[in-house]
Amino acid sequence: MTHGFETLAIHAGQEPDPATGAVVPPIFQTSTYAQDAVGSPRQGYEYSRTANPTRDALQECLAALEGGRRALAFASGLAAEDTLLRTICRPGDHVVIPDDAYGGTYRLFARVAQRWGLDWTPASIHNVDSVRAAITDRTKIVWLETPTNPLLGIADIAALAQLAHDRGALLVVDNTFASPYLQQPLHLGADLVVHSTTKYIGGHSDVVGGALVGTDEELMQELAYHQNAMGAIAGPFDAWLTLRGIKTLGVRMDRHCDNAERVVEFLQRHKAVGQVLYPGLPEHHGHEIAAKQMKRFGGMVSFRAAGGEEAAVEICNRAKLFVLGESLGGVESLIEHPGRMTHASAAGSPLEVPGDLVRLSVGIETIDDLLADLEQALAR
Ligand SMILES: Cc1ncc(COP(=O)(O)O)c(C=O)c1O
Repeated sequence: MTHGFETLAIHAGQEPDPATGAVVPPIFQTSTYAQDAVGSPRQGYEYSRTANPTRDALQECLAALEGGRRALAFASGLAAEDTLLRTICRPGDHVVIPDDAYGGTYRLFARVAQRWGLDWTPASIHNVDSVRAAITDRTKIVWLETPTNPLLGIADIAALAQLAHDRGALLVVDNTFASPYLQQPLHLGADLVVHSTTKYIGGHSDVVGGALVGTDEELMQELAYHQNAMGAIAGPFDAWLTLRGIKTLGVRMDRHCDNAERVVEFLQRHKAVGQVLYPGLPEHHGHEIAAKQMKRFGGMVSFRAAGGEEAAVEICNRAKLFVLGESLGGVESLIEHPGRMTHASAAGSPLEVPGDLVRLSVGIETIDDLLADLEQALAR
């Protein structure tokens, strides 16, 4: 029997514990497991870097939510990305990356993987021709974020999957901003989904984690081999916290979207605000594609301050209920200045973000309180 998204979020991988009947999967805070005889582990578990029942529960749930065959949970989103890169690529290979991506992802390519011998080209991923022009005979991966962090750019997953496959490359989609509730890239032809589960999936700003989800058994086995060989796993307590957060992903995402829509409406009418960036706006360059591939448009909103960079910084400093901080996707609203915070590592690169940009992670608080806080932060 197939189940709906919210049912899977609560039950996939989370059968009552066979030993005790506990409804919530226990935190198996153990590094190792007893063996009945040499080479005969009792339940198949030998050592927790290789496998742990709490991590298994999370992995099963993530695979179900993304419509994948298998998922792997990591210590952070970047740990997942690093493991993916070094599983699929060899020195001399090439990757196409978005010219508007999370600053830490850019840093991983530009400052770590490049030194190790990986070549990369930034492309405007909302333009299929720009991606086509960036692909070479050495391209192993076309890497997408959609929506992108922090400019909320949209890429056509189905069209780019086709393009990547025609050129013998894999399509990887960072689905952190949308979450599987709003968008399921594997169903649109992507080969792998990457998550910073730190964000909407965990949802409560209390845990850092990452995940890879895919459908190809052989590729997932290769990745699992590297997950164990490289060791950047999610610990049992982190896996448990993430699993607890996941249960409410659907209801949280709907409220994030409701509140973000109201915030967008408010910002569009405010004279201290220049352009509002939100894929739900009909004038957004990627609106039609977003409407096709996403259920709703998400809880992330960016805008340009009409008064320029210093005005943007001041707005961030004046906000109170919107907590000034990095990260996103938690129940509480956050505000930040990408140019000086999350994307500072992209300064001077093709991925540098505009100085007048403010990014909001719209939380699930009472909407009138959020609008009142923005009103006072935008007032001169
Ligand atoms: C879109 C996106 N991908 C990946 C990451 C990296 O994840 P983590 O911070 O969990 O390593 C982030 C972090 O902000 C992100 O926003």
